[in-house]
Amino acid sequence: MLMLLTSLTAHAESLQVLHWWKSASERKAVEFLQEKLDYESVSWRDAVVPSGSGVGASIVLRSRILAGNAPEVAQLNGVLISEWDSLGLLLDVDTVAAAAKWEQSLLPTVLTLVQPHGHFVAAPLGIHRINTLFYNRKLFKQHGLAVPQTWSEFERLALKLQSLGIAALAQSSEPWQVVSLFETLVLAEGGTEFYRDLFVLRKPGAFADMRLTRALQHLRDLKKWMARPLQERTWEEVSRQLVDGEAAMMVMGDWAKAELNLWGQLGDDSFACAAVPATANFHLYDIDTFAMLATPKSARTAQEKLAKVVMSNAVQAEYNQIKGSVPVLRNPDMTKMDSCARASWKLFASGVAAQVPSLAHRMATDEITKDAMIAEIHQYFLDDKVSTIETQRRLATIARTVTRPVTRPIARKK
Ligand code: BGC
Repeated sequence: MLMLLTSLTAHAESLQVLHWWKSASERKAVEFLQEKLDYESVSWRDAVVPSGSGVGASIVLRSRILAGNAPEVAQLNGVLISEWDSLGLLLDVDTVAAAAKWEQSLLPTVLTLVQPHGHFVAAPLGIHRINTLFYNRKLFKQHGLAVPQTWSEFERLALKLQSLGIAALAQSSEPWQVVSLFETLVLAEGGTEFYRDLFVLRKPGAFADMRLTRALQHLRDLKKWMARPLQERTWEEVSRQLVDGEAAMMVMGDWAKAELNLWGQLGDDSFACAAVPATANFHLYDIDTFAMLATPKSARTAQEKLAKVVMSNAVQAEYNQIKGSVPVLRNPDMTKMDSCARASWKLFASGVAAQVPSLAHRMATDEITKDAMIAEIHQYFLDDKVSTIETQRRLATIARTVTRPVTRPIARKK
């Protein structure tokens, strides 16, 4: 890392990039992009706010914008892209997008995300799959275990693992990690339509539904299978529990695959990926994206260079291999994908019927609603005294009362 950083040259053009990647594989992905940008004679000034799933990074970004001190580029995933475009906070990269034919080359859902109101205002990096079940292959082989396809199979397996003295699930009690697990349970319980009714459309009736009751109870019930002590661990620490055999399985976005690979745990050998039980036909997704901010001093040329770099076929293939995600392209280079990535890309590319936007990772709803819902679900998970029906009521109130964001473009900086 030191060698790479010192070899990067300072150029006349530079970009400050605000992001939240801090783990070893995330840093490697950043260094890869830095290097590619360096070839374009643009220096990457790193503004990292380390925080799993970007909780802290979003807060810092918002306060910097309010203080008139925005970075030129920010990791701005999900619904926020459209909202901030509406507020005139983003700059377009239409020229680059037209030259590289983004309209033709991007997968349709990604296209809508980065071109919310007719202008391209962000450069997409890769698609992560949240409903990934990692399992410790050595343990499974050693004890002749089968990967669970349903939650009943999971229960039987968990019992068997218990008799062997092994916890079934590695899990942190960190709020976003609890809700990442929870959203997979909602999907398993109610399918895509119900999931959308809750978290995208926020239909009041959906929050009183028995399917939500069951998903909440399921979340709490799973605590008995989780490795102890149940603490607020980082996702890297949770991944360690899986590798060390403290737990046999882990539900985590596929960024964990990149980390495990970097630790020398080869996919399909020491560990493997499957879909979370009862969600094999769904792709619960999260798309990493760099938004171009309209800063007082124009950095358009450098921002356009970054957008061009990020979307090249070769960078897409290599970056996503390092990061554990999959390319955002309709015709990506498949040669660098492992079995986990191939399955993810194929399912996502199969169309909207399979795609489900992650709540915890900002793809389903606005930031305030997401944060309020995460707080409720987290509290429910931690405290067995909180009633399920009361939690459903509170979630319904959040869905009903939190202000809906602006969806029409107001102004645009040129
Ligand atoms: C991001 C990933 C990141 C993960 C853990 C997700 O929200 O999309 O890129 O690796 O959080 O921080």
